[in-house]
Amino acid sequence: MNSSEASPPSGATSEELQQRIAELAEAVAARDTFIAIAAHELRNPMTPMLGQVDLLLQGIRVGKYSPEQIEQRLERIRHVMSHYVKRAAVLLNVSRITSGKLTLEPVGCDLSDLVRGIAETFAEPARHAGSPIGLDVPASLPGTWDPLAMEQIIDNLVSNAIKYGGRRPVDVRVEAFGDSVHISVRDHGPGISAESRARIFARFERAIGTEESRSGFGVGLWVVGQLVEAMEGTITVDNAPDGGAVFTVAVPRHGEGTRS
Ligand SMILES: Nc1ncnc2c1ncn2[C@@H]1O[C@H](COP(=O)(O)OP(=O)(O)OP(=O)(O)O)[C@@H](O)[C@H]1O
Ligand SMILES: [Mg+2]
Repeated sequence: MNSSEASPPSGATSEELQQRIAELAEAVAARDTFIAIAAHELRNPMTPMLGQVDLLLQGIRVGKYSPEQIEQRLERIRHVMSHYVKRAAVLLNVSRITSGKLTLEPVGCDLSDLVRGIAETFAEPARHAGSPIGLDVPASLPGTWDPLAMEQIIDNLVSNAIKYGGRRPVDVRVEAFGDSVHISVRDHGPGISAESRARIFARFERAIGTEESRSGFGVGLWVVGQLVEAMEGTITVDNAPDGGAVFTVAVPRHGEGTRS
């Protein structure tokens, strides 16, 4: 900021100036956060998408696929791309978190379908990472949620479980408990120390050292925490008795499939 932009309006008191400086600092911090989140959210889904395109190309080059198989794989890529486009739209909502203007759009949807769709999207990169996803999901679990926000929560937890899960299986479980649903994502990696568990939901916090090669901004869990809070839910993280991290999200169900 140059000095002319910062010059005080004539007659402003020192208190008013301090107030204005605080507001500007907050606006700059909010913009920085938004840039970090945008980069994270737009980059994350690119990896599975590129992986699928590469696999298809390799297969076509060696004549491995029939036209039907090519069509099937293109369909899958299309699915992931449409998911990506939706996520870009969600960014607008995420930017509102920092300005306190996050609004969810709950509609009647089936959580089981949603989770199965996410598992399908991650199936290829998860297998590739040595972390196949096991699902324990009821046949159907209708309720009223913002599907994009819900997707974003589960996506982030699953992608972390694959990234930090030590090339071992990942389990996703969904259960209904009275008026709420519990979603747990469990890996079989090294788990998270108590000290780290206390800070990983903060913005830009990573439990691992700066020499860590796995990329990430440390905003994924912050976004998850904010969305869960907006849904009036809770999120907890524990280490499983036999190792690995378990993230559990509990959110209200708000009626079964009623459209708002
Ligand atoms: N399943 C897990 N097992 C072990 N550590 C984890 C797990 N999930 C998260 N962490 C730790 O918590 C930190 C914060 O996670 P978060 O998702 O917010 O950021 P990130 O994965 O580093 O980056 P990104 O912003 O790309 O998601 C991670 O850097 C990692 O150290
Ligand atoms: Mg992450």
